[in-house]
Amino acid sequence: MVTMERLAEFPAYSRLALDPVAAAGSTLATADGAGLLDLYGGHCVNSLGAGDPGLGEALAEQWRRLSFTTNLLPLAERGAFLAALAVGMPPGEWRAFCSNSGAEANENALKIALAATGRRRVVCFEGAFHGRTAAAAAVSDNARPAFPADPFHVRRLPWGRCEGIDGSVGAVILEPIQSLAGVVEPPAGFLESLRAACDASGALLVFDEVQTGSGRLGAPWASSHYGVVPDLFTTAKGAGGGFPIGLSFATAEVAAATPAGLLGSTFGGGPMALRAATEVARRVSAPVFLEQVRAVSAVLRGAAGRGPVTAVRGVGLLLGLVTGAGVPARALRDALLARGILTGCCDDPQVLRLCPPLNLGLEQAESLLTALDSITLPAAAPASS
Ligand SMILES: Cc1ncc(COP(=O)(O)O)c(C=O)c1O
Repeated sequence: MVTMERLAEFPAYSRLALDPVAAAGSTLATADGAGLLDLYGGHCVNSLGAGDPGLGEALAEQWRRLSFTTNLLPLAERGAFLAALAVGMPPGEWRAFCSNSGAEANENALKIALAATGRRRVVCFEGAFHGRTAAAAAVSDNARPAFPADPFHVRRLPWGRCEGIDGSVGAVILEPIQSLAGVVEPPAGFLESLRAACDASGALLVFDEVQTGSGRLGAPWASSHYGVVPDLFTTAKGAGGGFPIGLSFATAEVAAATPAGLLGSTFGGGPMALRAATEVARRVSAPVFLEQVRAVSAVLRGAAGRGPVTAVRGVGLLLGLVTGAGVPARALRDALLARGILTGCCDDPQVLRLCPPLNLGLEQAESLLTALDSITLPAAAPASS
């Protein structure tokens, strides 16, 4: 007899006691019949909301007509994908490589940067999260478990600092806004200083836009929001609206210095992923869509000073609610959950993350503020020494 005990899931996640059975837009339905407002959006993934009809129809049509074919064949969907993505690209000429996840996108970007510069050192930042594969983990915060050895030399700097970006450095990688660390924005002038340090040393600047991309900041990319253009950037999560995709972009100049055979992926750039990314890119690059992201963001920012929230940080729909002294964000998450609102914790115990679908409604955003008004939380007792 086959029993559940013979095969159990790896205990990788600590899960919330919820039983989701369906989702539409920013609403999750649970088995007990309750509806939840989803302000977490599957970690930034549901850029168009859950079950978006347009995306669903595009994927169904793609599956029926041409579900998969090798990357060795030309594909009309590739042209449509590049045309849709081209609309919001930073200035200059770019080359795109498709993979399947954020970690892979970052691995490929670092591989391209080190191959193009012929250097073996990467600068990264404390608090960073770039994924769990070898190179991505090596440049994430060193408090996170990683492989026993790094695939290249790593120089880790405090967030906001630029020293040590010298001629030995091939790549400088960062999230323009550190999300998992607590939605930490770049200090004023930091991105510009990094750009200047890279220009002076010949290092390549790599933005990890796995969370900040695809319109989440109310601009196509963080580089458009901050006005600093990197040499390479990556994205994943929201780029496929729920269909897995990883994207690495390099300037045409950097791409030209990349040796043939360095990149490849069986699934990466398959017709379904391309179709999903095309649909998302078309929708999120529309000025009216981005305007709505900014409008909803402005409502959510009104959470500052409501209930236990003292401040709101972040940009667009990547926001962190900062709780008052000693009030754990986890307690606020639980209190909101009890009121039917799903949010997310992060590495900062006093920051609750919001990364809802980008088409969240204004009234849905308002309902967070009303819920906050009904919440009073005590500060946690200080840990005894
Ligand atoms: C900024 C950032 N980079 C990279 C990753 C890794 O993406 P994936 O889980 O798709 O490999 C994540 C995932 O949370 C992320 O937030």
